[in-house]
Amino acid sequence: MRRKTTVGEVDADVLAYTAGQDRVLDLALVEADCFGTAAHVTMLSRMPLQPPPLTPQDARAVIAELRRIMADAAAGRFVITLEDQDVHLAVERRLTEKLGALGKRVHVCRSRNDQVAVDLRLFAKDRLLAAMAAAAALALALNKFARRHARVPMVGRTHMQPAMPSSVGLWAAAWAESLLDDLALLRTAYDLNNQCPLGSAASYGVPMPIDRHLVSDLLGFARPVANVLHANQARGKLEAIILSALGQAMLTLSRLAQDLILFSMPEFGYFHLPAEFTTGSSIMPQKRNPDVLELLRAKAAKVLAAANLVAEIVRAAPSGYNRDLQEAKAPFMEGFDLTISSLQIMAPLVAGLRVDAAALRHGFTPDVFATDRALELVAKGMPFRDAYNEVKNNLQQLAGYSPDEALAAKRHYGAPAGLDFTATDRRIKEFSAWTAREIKRAQACRDRLFADKTKK
Ligand code: ARG
Repeated sequence: MRRKTTVGEVDADVLAYTAGQDRVLDLALVEADCFGTAAHVTMLSRMPLQPPPLTPQDARAVIAELRRIMADAAAGRFVITLEDQDVHLAVERRLTEKLGALGKRVHVCRSRNDQVAVDLRLFAKDRLLAAMAAAAALALALNKFARRHARVPMVGRTHMQPAMPSSVGLWAAAWAESLLDDLALLRTAYDLNNQCPLGSAASYGVPMPIDRHLVSDLLGFARPVANVLHANQARGKLEAIILSALGQAMLTLSRLAQDLILFSMPEFGYFHLPAEFTTGSSIMPQKRNPDVLELLRAKAAKVLAAANLVAEIVRAAPSGYNRDLQEAKAPFMEGFDLTISSLQIMAPLVAGLRVDAAALRHGFTPDVFATDRALELVAKGMPFRDAYNEVKNNLQQLAGYSPDEALAAKRHYGAPAGLDFTATDRRIKEFSAWTAREIKRAQACRDRLFADKTKK
């Protein structure tokens, strides 16, 4: 059986196979698609041709209908049919249904290839900002927790074995700083993403005087991608870059989750997870399980795998557009969902974490002070290796050391008593402020483009 589509008759099975998940996934792109089309028709109406492909009144009529499409989509009433294949042709069909011949003129000077590329970049801008806001909020929660428990002694471990005196503050602030690194990566991914691919069309531009800078400005991008071929084929690679940055944030979270699972076991008892973040068992009445943290570990694996999956999808793709790219959409979108929800659930979990100082102190067996003792001997003039051997041969003499004094003695930059929580707070807040500014700027662009000029 053959089915009629906007772009020709297609065998029904082939149509279902090639449309794949787009009918569902593209619902998340309706707003971006309308935004991109609004900028495109505005640019067409200002094209230096007599007459331009669209008049300013035409552009206004299209934008008014795009507004209604977005409202319908927000209310769950916008449908992408199998014959539409994807959001791009669904929007064109709707414009044609409502505006007649005008709807058929909208697609001039562009292709679904640059359309989906810009949709995904707009979608990614929005989601990256949400991820960065959530990462900054979690980093702040961790730094606050660190400050509150700055002087609570905690055994520092290497190879999981007791190693040296440390603090809860050092432990918690380390994760906050790891998230700051992740934020820097996300920011770099954001900057690479923040370039407009529209005007690339099928991959090679068009023989018409389109204004790519205007479209880029209207959409709030920093600039157009310079080379139209690169604009198109950066798709896939860009998703892999973004997923890698998200994956790094998940890597931080997964390891933090692992520590929390371990240190909240009764055998350690260092931390108590807030009760509302644990779940019960259907058979064992006493259980409170750290399911949130376990799922987070698994979700981290999925995001890291998604980065790899997308890179693999494009690895062997030749230049220009290839339909393979469509398969990158699902892991890309899922990667955002997994990361943002994980960052968001960890912030209140950390804020509600209770510390058992007595259990933490209980971990300080005398051998934890071995290195400190050796360094004491060095301070009195003994060569380090001699001091090391001296302590090693007399480990049983290491009684009576105070964890608090040991912590207080580590005063150098970044050590347990040398942490600058205020500086860390400042760095995190810079990211939050930048993120808030970008969110505002994006909203202002949308408002400007969709401003209803027929109303007063
Ligand atoms: N759904 C398609 C995608 O994600 C849109 C672009 C289709 N382009 C084409 N030449 N068939 O890639």
